Amino acid sequence: MFNHVALAASSKAEVDEWARRLRDNGVEVLGPVDHGIIYSIYFHDPNGIRLELTTTVDDSWTKHGKQALADVADWVAIKERAAAQGRDPTVALLELIRAKKAEMKARGIIGADELHGSHKN
Ligand SMILES: [Fe+2]
Repeated sequence: MFNHVALAASSKAEVDEWARRLRDNGVEVLGPVDHGIIYSIYFHDPNGIRLELTTTVDDSWTKHGKQALADVADWVAIKERAAAQGRDPTVALLELIRAKKAEMKARGIIGADELHGSHKN
């Protein structure tokens, strides 16, 4: 779920066009998924590698460097704690994501409809 390569598209229209082209050629495509800050589709390349084709919807999403560093530190700590406890790191990461989304909702950063959204890949 968390292991994938993300490639940038120039627009939502380009993402939609790739979704159509891939499906027309028999490729299973998830999405498009509107994450609020990015708009993405997910599929596998012929080697089975999960790919994401995405475009930025909110230009401010790359301007949160300090928060990004804090989030990565939380991510690593949660994974290490889960491993030490014999827990599935993926489950622990999903719990972290849900907690962070709930925090963002409480702070008015995202709407209620985005609270239970997921990457779906
Ligand atoms: Fe991604």
